[in-house]
Amino acid sequence: MSEPSDPAVPSGEPATRPHRRAHTTARDLERYAGLFAARTRVMRSSAMRDLMEITARPEVISLAGGLPDTSTFPPESFAAQMTRIAQESSAEALQYGPTEGFAETKECIREVMAAEGMDPELGDIIVTTGGQQAIDLVAKTLVDPGDVVIAEAPTYPGAVPVFCSYQADTLQVEVDAEGMRVDLLEGLLDDLAREGRRPKFIYTVPTFQNPAGVTLSAARRRRLIEISRERELLVVEDNPYGLLRYEGAPLEPLYRLDGGDYVLYLGTFSKILSPGIRLGWLCAPPPVMEKVVLGKQASDLCTSTLTQYFVREYFAEGNWRAYVADLCDVYRERRDAMVESLERFFPPGTTWSHPEGGLFCWATLPGYIDTTDLLAKALRENVAFVPGAAAYVDGRGGSEMRLNFSASQPAEIREGIQRIGGVVAEQVDLYESITGEHQLPNVPPASSASPPGAAGSAEGRGSAPGSDQGRADVIPLRRRER
Ligand SMILES: Cc1ncc(COP(=O)(O)O)c(C=O)c1O
Repeated sequence: MSEPSDPAVPSGEPATRPHRRAHTTARDLERYAGLFAARTRVMRSSAMRDLMEITARPEVISLAGGLPDTSTFPPESFAAQMTRIAQESSAEALQYGPTEGFAETKECIREVMAAEGMDPELGDIIVTTGGQQAIDLVAKTLVDPGDVVIAEAPTYPGAVPVFCSYQADTLQVEVDAEGMRVDLLEGLLDDLAREGRRPKFIYTVPTFQNPAGVTLSAARRRRLIEISRERELLVVEDNPYGLLRYEGAPLEPLYRLDGGDYVLYLGTFSKILSPGIRLGWLCAPPPVMEKVVLGKQASDLCTSTLTQYFVREYFAEGNWRAYVADLCDVYRERRDAMVESLERFFPPGTTWSHPEGGLFCWATLPGYIDTTDLLAKALRENVAFVPGAAAYVDGRGGSEMRLNFSASQPAEIREGIQRIGGVVAEQVDLYESITGEHQLPNVPPASSASPPGAAGSAEGRGSAPGSDQGRADVIPLRRRER
């Protein structure tokens, strides 16, 4: 039976709902407020998602996102692979698939992991809708409200909303140029043990960390694994960037060092192929995997069959390693452009990391500059970055910023850093004219203390992240309440 037609709607045009308002009113908010679950009160929005709308404007140079440069992927290969799928496996590729993912996709994942010396069982892998879903599934499986989760300080800004929405008590352990301060972690674990608390897991991005660009040293990797074994604690290793190395020798992933008993491993095709295909994975031992599969069934039944078929076709061509090598060449040049521009355009008193891989530099400004305020000024100059506060749950990071170099051409990076350097310099000048204080030129310190990732030319130009302590050249002002 056909639907009765609406006489007010001309045929061929979609019917609009008559009372739909463009904006939410105070009355709407009131009506819904009583319905929201308690967890929505602690949910946080993702800083990068919020910024995406602004940074999509063509006149804005965005150093804010974490976007790989997908224009480097040859369109003709993409067309050929998709055509092959349509011609040979159309019905299957358009169908639902198993919750755990196809065995063929897992074989591709095994190839990627083998490139970093890992050898998981097929049954220990679940294919997820991006690495982001893998973080969500781990938290969904392990975290009750109030449970302790330990993360790095700063941590991946996209993990913050996940831990908040499961109402975790997230505690952060500082990073320096060698990654997470494992000595501080031990102290924190001792303190927690005295309170009778046990973290559900330690979340780390040990290689080319998002956001700080730093890499956990070999010695700290070994110690972290010892700690997890001694204390029977789970470590969640998130490793989207391990294969994007531009210099230096690879380090063993935690998952390899541990053998998969205490380390849960998260990977993704987003940064070595495409984030648009939304394919990631999680490796976990069978008891954890059983619960994760139930969690995934409830959230999306299965990962996209179509994009799993695409990955299968792409890997069958056997060129994926060559493509990653090309990406490394492209990103190395951009990383160099960023580091050189930071040296040239950022004023004395600022520090930044020199990442050996990955997509980000992390800059620390004098403590009196608030990078959330600075972003508004930078946007007026049509340039964007991620304010450091997005990488902390506790209001730290106010004078820090994340700078992405993968998504812009070297010339844009130089222009963007020059513009940001300009607004930073204005703040420094203003501060100096008010206080009569002057920043000392950037010189290596006498002590070995260095800021996160200050491993390269900027080494040792400041103190620990978010800290003014020990700086003769910075008068700490009271931080703004958040
Ligand atoms: C550390 C880290 N984990 C997870 C993700 C999410 O990746 P995906 O695009 O696979 O969801 C990102 C993305 O930038 C990331 O940097």
